[in-house]
Formats: sequence, C-alpha cells, structure tokens
Amino acid sequence: ARCSTPTPVARVSQYACQRRTTTENNNKILTDAFEVLAESYELNQLEGPCLAFRRAASVLKSLPWAVQCLGATQGLPCLGEHTKALIEEILQYGHSFEVEKILSDERYQTLKLFTSVFGVGPKTAEKWYRRGLRSFSDILAEPSIQLNRMQQSGFLHYGDISRAVSKAEARALGNIIDEAVHAITPDGILALTGGFRRGKEFGHDVDFIVTTPEQGKEETLLPNIIDRLKEQGILLYSDYQTSTFDISKLPSHKFEAMDHFAKCFLILRLEGSLVDRGLNSTEGDSRGWRAVRVDLVSPPMERYAYALLGWTGSRQFERDLRRFARLEQHMLLDNHALYDKTKKEFLAATTERDIFAHLGLEYIEPWQRNA
Ligand code: CTP
Ligand code: MN
Ligand code: MN
Ligand code: MN
Repeated sequence: ARCSTPTPVARVSQYACQRRTTTENNNKILTDAFEVLAESYELNQLEGPCLAFRRAASVLKSLPWAVQCLGATQGLPCLGEHTKALIEEILQYGHSFEVEKILSDERYQTLKLFTSVFGVGPKTAEKWYRRGLRSFSDILAEPSIQLNRMQQSGFLHYGDISRAVSKAEARALGNIIDEAVHAITPDGILALTGGFRRGKEFGHDVDFIVTTPEQGKEETLLPNIIDRLKEQGILLYSDYQTSTFDISKLPSHKFEAMDHFAKCFLILRLEGSLVDRGLNSTEGDSRGWRAVRVDLVSPPMERYAYALLGWTGSRQFERDLRRFARLEQHMLLDNHALYDKTKKEFLAATTERDIFAHLGLEYIEPWQRNA
C-alpha cells in the first residue's frame, strides 16, 4: 500500500525525556500490541526484550500522527526488526498473529490474572502456575499456600481495586488526605503525583507526596496520617515503610529499586455518591463505598523536587530521565538526588524546572510525560 510519509518533523529523540507525550495516543492499535509483547516478556522475567517493546511503544505514543505505512516509521528510534514486522502485519491485517497467540495462551492469561492481585508479582505468579494452579479458587483452596497480609487484602478487595479510579474519586481522596495533613501540621504540603498529575482520566491508584517545611517532622507525618485514617474508620489496609534515606549515598542507577523515603501503600474506603454502583449490580449490594489503592510518600522538604519528579512518572519517562542523565551527562539521577560525576557534587533543586535545567533538558510539563 502506498501512503504519504508525514512531512519530516524534528528528529524524534530516543529518550522519552526529550519527547512530549500527552495522554492522546494516535497509535493505540500498535502500542497496545507492543505492550502485550512487553508484558509477556515481563511475566517471563525477560527484562531486555520487555524494555525494547516498551521503548518502541513509547516512541509511537509521542507521535502527533498515526503511522499508516511502514515507510512513515523511517528514522524513528527504538524500532527493531521485530517491531517493524509487527507494525507491517497490523497495518495490513488489523491485528497480529503473534499477539493473538499470546493473548490466548494459558500461561500468559494465568500469570496476568495472578499478577493482577495486589501483592502478587511475576515470581509468585510463576510459582503458583508451576504448581498447577490456574484460578483464584485454586489458590484459595490450596492449604499449603500462605498468603501474606498484602495478598490477603488483594483478594479481599479484588473487585474494587481492579476497577479504575476516576479523576473525581482521586479528587475526593485528595480532600481526605489534605484534611488529615493539615489537621496534623498546619504548614503541611500535599501534592498529587503519579498518573493523575499527568492528566490521566483514570488510574489504578492515587499517588500523593506529603511533607512539611520543618526539618525532620516529615518522619512522623505518615504514621500520624495513618492513625487518623484508622480513627475515621476508612483504613482498610496499610503497609508503612520507614525512611532509609541516607544523604551521603550516591543516586542508585537501578531504576526498579525502591526509593528510600518514608512511604505507605494503603487501601482506603471511599464513601459517597461518586462510586459507580452500576458495575456492582450483580453483587446485589447497594453499599455506598468502594475500596481504593492510595500511595503516600514523604520526602524531606529539601528533596521535594526530586521526589515529585520521580513519582510523577510515567515509568518509561523516569527510566529515560535516568538513562539520559547517565549516558549523555555523566550524572546519576534517582528519586532523591542528582549527582554530577564530573564535578563530583550533588546538585540541589527546589523545583522540577531546576532538575531539567541541571540535566540540560527542555522542561517537559507533567501532562507531556505520558511516555
Ligand atoms: N514509583 C516509585 N517508587 C515506587 C512506586 C512508584 O518511584 N515504589 C513511581 C513510578 O516510577 C511512577 C510513579 O511513582 O512513575 C507512579 O507509580 P504508579 O502509581 O505505579 O503508576 P502511575 O503512573 O500513577 O499509573 P497508574 O494510573 O496505573 O497508577
Ligand atoms: Mn498511580
Ligand atoms: Mn503500579
Ligand atoms: Mn502508585
């Protein structure tokens, strides 16, 4: 098929942090396919090919036009032979045989089902699969399986927390957390982060940064918030991790490693009319609440900008910020700090703009970070 290649735009960078990616995706058919492959590799714990497909998807997400022929992808970074063959197949037939095969694969389906439970990662899912377990009832009926507290809550609230959280629900939770923070410390600071800060309409959870300008006071902030939510009767689950932050440590180059700020992973009970009860009608309940996943992270104020940048995402954007820092600037970036290896010094920042400037990057707005 012939098709005109779009008028050459500026070169597309191989780094997501040098691209502007809104929530509008002009190549969803292609990126959905790439993400199935990425997911499949991830479930099989093959990091390299998984990342390759995530990068390819991310490049196509940034395009202001839809790819309509293979020729149009000429000059785009991060597209290998495999991705190009997929693009060609999907453009021609509307779907990919390889993707369909994965989607109907029992192992893929089962691992995806198991990892959809809060607290279950690829390793646990794999272990259960190898023991012949194929469904939730298989797992729950297996006496030798000891679910941890997180997984128990994951199963208990499965229906609610696997349902997308809306912007309105995120706003309502913001009000609850905001009220708690300010009741504890009037000068407390609350910021929405994660996918909702990037302008997404729906999320799998709601992420907030909470802190206070008073040095050291952020350490007690989360335990106090948790106590308050408990008193209000809306705390369904809480996993609190104290800070292990060490200012002298160099930034970690390993992206998947957790940061060292105090944080908590919560499940909250959200009351009120915002809840879409239509989807629950088969359960025949008219309860006016739903369970929602909420993440809170509490960095010291002087690290606020780094924490905000690190928790705003997307994951692909974060990966590429770090990769860009390391490979292009000889710097180390993580959620806590930026270290210049040439000057052998840490670079302070009070805003995200400061960090982009340190990195020699044009500022990218949060809603342009949906890489
Ligand atoms: N993050 C992190 N350390 C963690 C958990 C999350 O640095 N322990 C960062 C991730 O890199 C991501 C951001 O926090 O950029 C938000 O993570 P998450 O809530 O998983 O993803 P979202 O982008 O918010 O997407 P969703 O709408 O699915 O929640
Ligand atoms: Mn999130
Ligand atoms: Mn997540
Ligand atoms: Mn989160």
